[in-house]
Amino acid sequence: MRNLAAGNWKMNGLVADLAQVQALAKAHPAPDCDVLLCPPATLISRMADAVAGSAVMLGGQDCHANASGAHTGDISAQMLKDAGASHVILGHSERRADHGESDAIVLAKTQAALFAGLVAIVCVGETEAQRDAGQTLDVIGAQLAGSLLAQLDCAPNDLVIAYEPVWAIGTGRTPTLEEVGAVHRFMRATLLDRFGAAAREMRLLYGGSVKPANATEIFAVPEVNGALVGGASLKADDFGPIVAAL
Ligand code: G3H
Repeated sequence: MRNLAAGNWKMNGLVADLAQVQALAKAHPAPDCDVLLCPPATLISRMADAVAGSAVMLGGQDCHANASGAHTGDISAQMLKDAGASHVILGHSERRADHGESDAIVLAKTQAALFAGLVAIVCVGETEAQRDAGQTLDVIGAQLAGSLLAQLDCAPNDLVIAYEPVWAIGTGRTPTLEEVGAVHRFMRATLLDRFGAAAREMRLLYGGSVKPANATEIFAVPEVNGALVGGASLKADDFGPIVAAL
């Protein structure tokens, strides 16, 4: 299985920033891992033109559970695909917190994404209070149970899980390597229980303050198959070394 370096630009990025993507694509013409950038939806189409012919793939940051209809401001999975996306991030903790997205909503969006032919990157992660209370694995287990399909009715590569401790996002703080390993081992075991042997082929990403300086050690943790990177994905000089570390 190929590792995945995924960049989440969140609500950042204007047309002028496409130069960063072109620099990244030029610096890594044949990366050893899959490379994905998830810009704001406004940029997907133009970014698709900017990276045409390169190894960089594109994704959305969210999609609606319905294919079309009266949902002002929302974007469907089909629209993302039409704009040039192959992936979509779902259930990011910022969506769960800012937009009240429940596990059931994330599940519905995941089904819509897979139906549209997108790879779904489903995010899970505990808050600091939950970690301090010793609830981390219970929280991750419940999110996996509620946000994923009952059966794996897609190729295992089409469903990616990103573990992002909420307290590590954008803070410069990360769990210890042992803590990352414990959660990833737990997720793999949970997915194997649920989906059987095919779950060995599902990629499990770590996200939360991944930087060039800590990427190599995080990627060496067993069951870590890549990263979901926020701030450090905005500049080619930061994201390039993370791609190289995979
Ligand atoms: O989706 C990405 C994550 O929320 C991580 O963000 O790398 O800025 O901590 P960060």
